[in-house]
Amino acid sequence: MSISIDLAGQVAVVTGGGSGIGEAISKTLARAGASVGIADLSAESAERVAKEIAADGGQAVAAAVDIASRESIEAGLAVIRSALGPVAHLVNNAATWSVKPFADHTPTEIDRVIGVTLTGTMAVTQAALADIVAQAGSIVVISSDGARIGERYMSVYAAAKAGLIGLTKSLAREVGRYQVNVNAIAPGTTNTPGSAGFIEQAGGQEKLARAYPLGRIGEPQDIANAALFLVSPLSSWMTGQVLSVSGGFTMV
Ligand SMILES: NC(=O)c1ccc[n+]([C@@H]2O[C@H](COP(=O)([O-])OP(=O)(O)OC[C@H]3O[C@@H](n4cnc5c(N)ncnc54)[C@H](O)[C@@H]3O)[C@@H](O)[C@H]2O)c1
Repeated sequence: MSISIDLAGQVAVVTGGGSGIGEAISKTLARAGASVGIADLSAESAERVAKEIAADGGQAVAAAVDIASRESIEAGLAVIRSALGPVAHLVNNAATWSVKPFADHTPTEIDRVIGVTLTGTMAVTQAALADIVAQAGSIVVISSDGARIGERYMSVYAAAKAGLIGLTKSLAREVGRYQVNVNAIAPGTTNTPGSAGFIEQAGGQEKLARAYPLGRIGEPQDIANAALFLVSPLSSWMTGQVLSVSGGFTMV
């Protein structure tokens, strides 16, 4: 006997799907049969990932989307809906961050990090929610362990990511009656283009890995496996949860 996950006929949108964790999630959901809408600020990255999915036998469409703009979100979702159909699953993965002492953040930098990471995620979720409710789909939010245990020099980002945990839990209570699951993943440090500078500043992968009970930092596929589980029927009785995927670094 074997267990398989079959998402054929279901449309999943992944924000920030053109790089790192979002790319791995897009490719993993496509391998499970989903039709994937890759919504990324970088049209070039989104196109590359969509082409690689197609070359692997999957179905994907790229859309250039800035989640900080409601107009851009609506335009991107229109492209995805017309190519693939209504959205069943949304993976809110796009974010932005700044690494510096809290006191040094300018109001503009605070607005940018909150505007993309927190407000932008809420805007995408609002834009896709009616589709997701109609199909009893799911929402996965990529938060961060920085929101749960704190991260020096990333206070504004951690505040935005903590806001996403509040959104996850409250929305889960609101839409549970429609059989929509809303869960969050809190990754530990994961080896992506976006985290390369942070990893270098922290002394490199090997040094960081010493703090991880499982002896290594994360790979994008580690997070994608958890996202697949949360999108799939295997997690149908889970909602409002925050799953740390962090090699045991955070145990809460
Ligand atoms: N890598 C880590 O160590 C780590 C740890 C915890 C949480 N996370 C979270 O995982 C997610 C992915 O991070 P990553 O490390 O893969 O980053 P990454 O930089 O490799 O990829 C992020 C992608 O998001 C896109 N993006 C950025 N701003 C956008 C916007 N306004 N609209 C649409 N797309 C936008 C980028 O173009 C890029 O393709 C983020 O939410 C991040 O906060 C990462």
